[in-house]
Amino acid sequence: MASNKTLLMLPGDGIGPEICGEVHKVIDWMDKRRAVSFDLKHGLVGGAAYDAHGEAISDADMQAAMDADAVVFGAVGGPQYDNLAWEHRPEAGLLRLRKEMDLFANLRPAVAFDALLDASTLKPDVLQGLDIMIVRELTAGVYFGEPRGMQTLEDGTERCIDTQSYTKAEIERVAEAAFDLARKRNGKVHSVEKANVMKTGIFWRQTVTELHGSGLYDDIELQHMLADNCAMQLVRNPKQFDVIVTDNLFGDMLSDVAAMLTGSLGMLPSASLGAVDEMGRRKALYEPVHGSAPDIAGQGMANPLAMLLSFAMTLRYSFDLQEDADLIEDAAQAVLARGIRTGDIMTDGAERVSTAQMGDAVLEELDKRAA
Ligand code: IPM
Ligand code: MN
Repeated sequence: MASNKTLLMLPGDGIGPEICGEVHKVIDWMDKRRAVSFDLKHGLVGGAAYDAHGEAISDADMQAAMDADAVVFGAVGGPQYDNLAWEHRPEAGLLRLRKEMDLFANLRPAVAFDALLDASTLKPDVLQGLDIMIVRELTAGVYFGEPRGMQTLEDGTERCIDTQSYTKAEIERVAEAAFDLARKRNGKVHSVEKANVMKTGIFWRQTVTELHGSGLYDDIELQHMLADNCAMQLVRNPKQFDVIVTDNLFGDMLSDVAAMLTGSLGMLPSASLGAVDEMGRRKALYEPVHGSAPDIAGQGMANPLAMLLSFAMTLRYSFDLQEDADLIEDAAQAVLARGIRTGDIMTDGAERVSTAQMGDAVLEELDKRAA
């Protein structure tokens, strides 16, 4: 069936192709069972793109990403690419996608699955019912700030610089995204920075406070928190949070912490969203928070759930297919409840399965629900 929904799949490196293969199965299932079809395109990113084209993403694939309704991204990186020149490293492909597509709002939901409470290193009662959303700024801050790089001072001293930089508009738009999300959730936002040591932290706090006081967000409760304290509070009492909004680097670190609250990095999906244009469209990329896991790549061991849950976010945020997104999330819950586990979330007495078996189990649950 022809489709007006264009999807670009960029599996990337390591376990990326394996977990994207499980998304393919769900796409086929949706076509057959839900009469939802996609115009699916494929591209290369990361080391895979470097091997083929000598760069971390080709201009043609970059253009395909700009034109697609949504990009589904696996993972990038691997030891064989560790010594490539800076501009060729696999991560450069991902960073170029984020920057050129202007995907400033990175949504990283951390939800505790009841069946996985024992897989976390934290006590179950600290986690039960946990549902938080980290909104990470994704196109500015120290990831992109200039100047950066090596310098030699007059006396011959070598030094290296990275620059943390934020404009007011860059802070405002991600804070707006966080307030809007909080409105659909529990109405609480924690804005996280280091206003005690960083000028950008003070500016961040001021800007978010001003925006909150504009009269548009009187229904939202805003609290400020220092990033180090937030890291501590996330493991001490994570259920105090609803939405956390923070900069690019703090968001990177805090979302890894949040991932472990769910039992494994293999469980955490993400959506990276741009601004809504005049046509009501927004550019978007969906990727699991975990990396390419080169140590287990190609062995059929990877957990595909973060990738499948990222695909559910694709349906939710890019195509407004809420029911289909719910189906996938419910199916994942049900599979876990049946005691089916990949190695990363394995617990005593559970059934250990491969990547493909995990995907098949999700399909089985989908079948039950669509019947
Ligand atoms: C992430 C990753 C990336 C980041 C890497 C692969 C560049 O860790 O998406 O969290 O640092 O943003
Ligand atoms: Mn990260």
